[in-house]
Amino acid sequence: MNKPIGVIGLGYVGLPLCVHFARSATRVIGFDVDEKKVRKLNSGESYILHIPAEEIQSARDAERFEATTDFSRIGECEAVIICVPTPLGRHREPDIRFIIRTGKAIAPHIQPGTVVILESTTYPGTTDTDLRKALEEGSGMTAGKDFHLAYSPEREDPGRKDRNVTQIPKVIGGLTPTCLERAKAVYETAIEQLVPVSTCRVAEAVKLMENIFRSVNIAMVNELKIVYEAMGIDIWEVIDAAKTKPFGYMPFYPGPGLGGHCIPIDPFYLTWKAREYGQSTKFIELAGEINTAMPGFVVKHVSEALSSAGKPLKDSRILMLGIAYKANVDDDRESPAYALWRMLEDLGAKVDYHDPHVPVIRPSREHSRFAGRENVELTPENAQGYDLVLVTTKHDGVDYEMVAREARLIVDTRNAFTGLNQDPDKYFKA
Ligand SMILES: NC(=O)c1ccc[n+]([C@@H]2O[C@H](COP(=O)([O-])OP(=O)(O)OC[C@H]3O[C@@H](n4cnc5c(N)ncnc54)[C@H](O)[C@@H]3O)[C@@H](O)[C@H]2O)c1
Repeated sequence: MNKPIGVIGLGYVGLPLCVHFARSATRVIGFDVDEKKVRKLNSGESYILHIPAEEIQSARDAERFEATTDFSRIGECEAVIICVPTPLGRHREPDIRFIIRTGKAIAPHIQPGTVVILESTTYPGTTDTDLRKALEEGSGMTAGKDFHLAYSPEREDPGRKDRNVTQIPKVIGGLTPTCLERAKAVYETAIEQLVPVSTCRVAEAVKLMENIFRSVNIAMVNELKIVYEAMGIDIWEVIDAAKTKPFGYMPFYPGPGLGGHCIPIDPFYLTWKAREYGQSTKFIELAGEINTAMPGFVVKHVSEALSSAGKPLKDSRILMLGIAYKANVDDDRESPAYALWRMLEDLGAKVDYHDPHVPVIRPSREHSRFAGRENVELTPENAQGYDLVLVTTKHDGVDYEMVAREARLIVDTRNAFTGLNQDPDKYFKA
């Protein structure tokens, strides 16, 4: 490919993609509306924990990567891959404004033959209806005839070390057979295994199914956790034994609630679209209900643990271990830690947090009340000083042994103390 590939939206999905293309000797131009991110990248810095700055710098040194806010440079690109956010609106309806805005911004610059690929997670029909319309109206060209259009879902699993983007099979659906072939050619240089499907809609549906599968299974283990606890059985021990079955089972783990940019959000994209077809999505909604109730279950255990030590929840001092939604990442979007924090503070507790990857809570629409709150160091004095330590994320490198020794009370939602002293007077799972 002589011309570069453009990647739009340099976040958790777009930036690793740029790095992988650059590594496989493809030139990449990264586009973002955030000038700060663009400046950082062009000076060889990273703002994502699991993308080392050296990766960016070596792509810069090899002259295979640059970042820009100038969308007119789309005209230089052979292909354009869109990785912008797809959040939910106020009423938990899909918000595809970022995709449409991007479509409108790039439309005047795409050339005859450009391949446009959407990677953002969304409901079936977005690519061949909503995005297509924005591109055709803005370019005066016809998709599938003058330029190519495809959908290929992202399967990035931030923080995962055993596989990288290159080794994860990639599903692709095109608007026409030629669109599919052209999209495959874009990824062939960087991805080992491509999985072509018949339409963009099938590819969109694949992504939603993968995430709904996780949401439903996590809800199931969360429900079993509550049921088994009432029977005096530890769900973690059950899972460890069940996963030795070599077929027909795969482990999912309970937690304090769902987090991240995908699992709490994507199922609602399908629920919303299903209504248009008069279909209900009972499984998805039930899973959502169970998962959303988990922070309440944890708060009940915190309150009971404090009572067992003669302390009311009100005015108690709690140190929450973990703000990121999962281990070893710095991503706090939709983290259940915030739901817990809100509930505990509303009940009168005083909550601080420790998270080595979240030094300060950034301003956001969802968690404005916590903006500016800072990470508390995890020292023996601090572990002792709080009435209770609540483990919400199991990051590596946290000294759980010290916490087991020093903390007055521990409520553990992540099974972080395996093999450590679990004194029944002070250690509680939730
Ligand atoms: N994070 C994940 O693990 C993950 C995994 C699979 C799929 N996805 C999906 O990928 C998509 C992107 O998610 P993400 O986690 O990378 O989001 P992100 O918020 O980390 O990154 C999005 C980037 O897009 C930029 N942006 C916003 N509007 C833009 C515009 N109009 N033009 C150019 N840039 C714009 C933002 O500044 C940001 O840098 C979403 O649809 C998400 O559901 C995410």
